Amino acid sequence: MPSKFPYRTRRTIKPAQMESARPVSGELLREILEDAHWAPTHGLTQPWRFHVFIAAARDRLADGLESLYDECTAPADRKPDKRAKLRANVRGAPVAIAVAARIEPGGKISELDEISATACAVQNLLLSAHQRGLGTFWSTPPVACSREFAVWLGLDATHRCMGIVYLGYPQEGTRPASSRLPLSERTIFYTE
Ligand SMILES: Cc1cc2nc3c(=O)[nH]c(=O)nc-3n(C[C@H](O)[C@H](O)[C@H](O)COP(=O)(O)O)c2cc1C
Repeated sequence: MPSKFPYRTRRTIKPAQMESARPVSGELLREILEDAHWAPTHGLTQPWRFHVFIAAARDRLADGLESLYDECTAPADRKPDKRAKLRANVRGAPVAIAVAARIEPGGKISELDEISATACAVQNLLLSAHQRGLGTFWSTPPVACSREFAVWLGLDATHRCMGIVYLGYPQEGTRPASSRLPLSERTIFYTE
């Protein structure tokens, strides 16, 4: 019997499909982040860091991403549409959450575990938002995963950026299609 929890109905909702002028209340945002914060974590390090940009702070984020794009991309590789997309995503979503994982140098918990725990926190965030009627888009362009972005966020070299989660109410009628391979193509049961 399918679960009542909406694991399967969550869909990626791009900022262009969000109601950009409809704010997400601070109270709701905190609830969603609190759900994310209860992800499992090896050694209880709680390695996730959420840098939340709302209202006018999104302009600062858009400016930052555009200049980091120029800084991180060789002139021959720069694509005006990719650069413009960074700003369009930030402007299209009422909330942008930059996600980073902290990895203690020489610590007991591996980088793999800290990144995995942070991904668990992001999945909690995506599902919590979906359950509360919001759409999300986890976006990982190179600039949002770069060392330079971590510095821009004020994080030191022990942090690894893992992209930006955009959040907002989906526009009326938005229902993107998605599909998965049969589970049997990704799962093996052993019985003896
Ligand atoms: C770690 C991670 C990074 C992702 N980065 C991007 C991205 O940079 N651009 C993009 O279009 N989608 C990105 N996605 C979203 C996937 O494209 C999306 O989940 C997939 O198409 C399945 O659609 P669904 O989420 O609606 O089921 C990312 C998803 C994950 C889990």
